[in-house]
Amino acid sequence: MAKTKTRYICQECGSVQPKWMGRCPDCGEWNTLVETLVEEGRSGGGSAAERQARLERNPPQPLVAISADSYQRTMLPMDEFNRVVGGGLVPGALTLIGGDPGIGKSTLLLQISAGLATVGPVLYVSGEESAQQIKLRATRLKIPGDNLFILAETSMTAILEHAQQMSPRFLIVDSIQTMYLDELESAAGSVSQVRECAARFQEVAKGRNIPVFLIGHVTKTGAIAGPRVLEHIVDTVLYLEGEQFHAYRLLRSVKNRFGATNEVGIFEMGEIGLSEVTNPSEAFLAERLPNASGSAIAITLEGTRPLLVEVQALASTTSFGNPRRTANGVDFNRLLLLVAVLTKRVGTRLSDQDVFVNVIGGLQIGEPASDLAVATAIASSFRNTPVAADIALVGEVGLSGELRAVGHLETRLKEAAKLGFKRCVLPASSQLKQLKDPPLELLRARSLSEALEIALIH
Ligand code: TYD
Ligand code: MG
Repeated sequence: MAKTKTRYICQECGSVQPKWMGRCPDCGEWNTLVETLVEEGRSGGGSAAERQARLERNPPQPLVAISADSYQRTMLPMDEFNRVVGGGLVPGALTLIGGDPGIGKSTLLLQISAGLATVGPVLYVSGEESAQQIKLRATRLKIPGDNLFILAETSMTAILEHAQQMSPRFLIVDSIQTMYLDELESAAGSVSQVRECAARFQEVAKGRNIPVFLIGHVTKTGAIAGPRVLEHIVDTVLYLEGEQFHAYRLLRSVKNRFGATNEVGIFEMGEIGLSEVTNPSEAFLAERLPNASGSAIAITLEGTRPLLVEVQALASTTSFGNPRRTANGVDFNRLLLLVAVLTKRVGTRLSDQDVFVNVIGGLQIGEPASDLAVATAIASSFRNTPVAADIALVGEVGLSGELRAVGHLETRLKEAAKLGFKRCVLPASSQLKQLKDPPLELLRARSLSEALEIALIH
């Protein structure tokens, strides 16, 4: 048995210290020493025969000889979830699900566990809630619970032994910040505990070839050990996003070794937990008032899926000195840029106007392709003229007020046509070679002012 003991390793220069210090004596950086487990006697040794056997067990293989379809992916009854993990769960995958407290991580994973339990035994380890609390939630979510085992435990030693004895097909850990290893002195939730515990779970995932889910809390300040330190250990990082007072929840993949990143699954939080939103664009546009000024429809892309969302803006005369700008769902600096372009290049005088922008449904749109819709919504509110109800908009706005081409136009146009839009304003430079027969009328514009001329009703 290799003996383990703890050392303090500087995260800046790698210097090793026997005890904690506020400042690294080698590089002089403050607060960089992190407690780490080191194994003694783990040198690459062994007898010559042992070393040879080890080499023969795992020789380098020619790339052509490796089969790529060896993954037996497990499909869940939740398609939105399958999409986010890249088309089903891969055996041995270690997945981290992060998100603000109270956003619905435990709810989501309990529902996923119920789906997994139809495939094989699931071990759900909770360090946050008692078994009774989980039972109450499961009853509310109408989860039958065959094959689903609950363990309220925070000690890694106990959890690993249970996992060993029970050999579940799936392991869920809620949350990684509550788990602790006895060998480490620091408290549960510290960087060293979180990292070491995650490393142990990775051994379980890879050693037993079972999918393991870790829940992690993110804090606004990021001061305590959040899931960020784990991102390089795990295979997949998913974030559950949304606003507390909105029903929609977005599960987004920010890292995925087995599929595309930035893929999004959309759920709605209701009475009996999270349910899938299979037609999100329709849901986001449901409450739209046609012919209201200050509203424009953007065709954004979330991962590989096109989404139509309503962007609302309100420009009203400032009553105090400095005009205010408020962005909800769009990047604040992007809003400032668009306001500046509208003022300087289009001649929309916004210098004495408060400007509020809101994306409906609590959605966060980061894509520059939605610039045109945001700028059009602002101009529409300022001029008090609505955008024609059958028009959707797509395009990036440049600093000279020009419209720049965006990618994946075909997918976007098809989605817009599917939802009943008749016309789309898009950058004149857009290349649409493959699209012989556009599903809707294309209104090309070279600049933001041209686009406004087309989109706003006179
Ligand atoms: P939870 O999964 O406990 O959040 P997390 O694990 O991310 O901290 O979910 C908490 C919220 O979800 C809570 O405010 C109540 C709400 N909720 C519902 O609206 N409906 C439900 O069926 C359930 C189980 C929870
Ligand atoms: Mg929870």
